[in-house]
Amino acid sequence: MKIKLGSGRNLGLFFIKFLAYSQISLVIFILLVVPLGQSEVQGSVPSISFIYEWSRRVSDFVSRSPIVRRFLGGGEPVTTPRLIQFQGYPCETHQVTTEDGFILVMHRIPYGPHQKYPPLHSRPPVILFHGNSQSSADWVINRPNEDALGFYLADAGYDVWLVNQRGNDYSTRHVSLTTSDSAFWDHSAHEMGVYDVTAMINYITAYTGQPRVHFIGYSLSCSSFLIALAKRPEYNEKVGLAILMAPGVFFNGFYFGLLRPTAVGASLYEVFNKFLGGIPLIPHVATNLLHRILPVFCHPKVDLLGVCLIFIKVAFGDDQGLITQDKMPLITMVAPNTFSVKVAIHGWQMVGSGRFHEYDYGITKNKVIYGTAHPPDYNLTNVRVPVSIMVGATDFLANPRDAKTLARKLPNLVDFHYVENPNFKHLDFCYAKGVGKLVYSRVVRMLDAYSYGKSYG
Ligand SMILES: *[C@@H]1O[C@H](CO)[C@@H](O)[C@H](O)[C@H]1NC(C)=O
Repeated sequence: MKIKLGSGRNLGLFFIKFLAYSQISLVIFILLVVPLGQSEVQGSVPSISFIYEWSRRVSDFVSRSPIVRRFLGGGEPVTTPRLIQFQGYPCETHQVTTEDGFILVMHRIPYGPHQKYPPLHSRPPVILFHGNSQSSADWVINRPNEDALGFYLADAGYDVWLVNQRGNDYSTRHVSLTTSDSAFWDHSAHEMGVYDVTAMINYITAYTGQPRVHFIGYSLSCSSFLIALAKRPEYNEKVGLAILMAPGVFFNGFYFGLLRPTAVGASLYEVFNKFLGGIPLIPHVATNLLHRILPVFCHPKVDLLGVCLIFIKVAFGDDQGLITQDKMPLITMVAPNTFSVKVAIHGWQMVGSGRFHEYDYGITKNKVIYGTAHPPDYNLTNVRVPVSIMVGATDFLANPRDAKTLARKLPNLVDFHYVENPNFKHLDFCYAKGVGKLVYSRVVRMLDAYSYGKSYG
């Protein structure tokens, strides 16, 4: 297959874009993102916290106001359990506490509604881990027979565990910290791997009594998974098959028109982090408000120009209509979700360096923490479980060339698959029309092969 990406652009145009976009995106980052996130962590910069507090109060007031709620049709917020039960599937909510005190929420679909009786043999458990700025809900917004991986797996006979990363709308609790503490947000994909993924694996294997759990990751959660096994290889024993969809691990081919050039100065962002302390990208009160406003604003009858869809196409690439406008209210009802700014900075450092390495604290602190000036690479030789990789041929976030780099470094790669649609891009793994047939059917074939020894071809 021929793959065309943003590489052949002429240099002059690139240079102009570089100058323009790096300025614009930095300004956006500073003006918009930082104050918003700061509003959740109160008082970390006292002189300007008044503005943040004010914006926080406005969003809180607006989201509570009965008039706004009526206009937005808002009663109860849309949650993963409600979405699952609405489709007639059973749902359980589980909590696991990580070694560093985060209380993570997992939503379980133990079986499909057409399989009411307890199975003769136990169902293989599967962790389904969302991408960054998502939650467990993104896997169940569509109807069961229409491209919802959560239901798809349950119908295929699996015990589905929809997990939530620390800090998103569900996993907001900690044994001693609250989301208003800066220390709560002092984490990147590193901690999500080392603590979250391992805690989930431990809990699910213990709860189900199964020796192994399969893992399905998408985008950033693929990194978290690989970090978990690279840093704590003993967990190889507890994982069956790992399926990595659009893995965001190496970023040499990463092309994000508006944002790529800012990665050049990524190591500088750590200065931000030192100064501001840990903050979320968007405070929870704002995501809750967005989940009420956006479905109305992005509804095809309101958004006549299709602004929401245009935004997605500009940011994530035009997939020639695989994500349709009628899906926008469903998608925006649950996404975007929030995450720590440090997650973004860590990712950005790896876009800048092109390597898969631990968090870069700057030379002085690196020497204290790692004993070297540069942060060490994650050792992928330690990831011994069978891994299946699925990529979109024209995904410019999780670029197929970078997925190939990853594939070469994994000792037990069992499958590398280009999705059979030349326009398949990053978000399509979650939201595209027809993704069930294109991708999820293969996911189930792979799982069946590693659960029951069937062939997957
Ligand atoms: C990576 O881990 C393997 C064992 O899994 C070890 O043999 C190798 O030396 C490690 N590489 C580095 C650079 O630490």
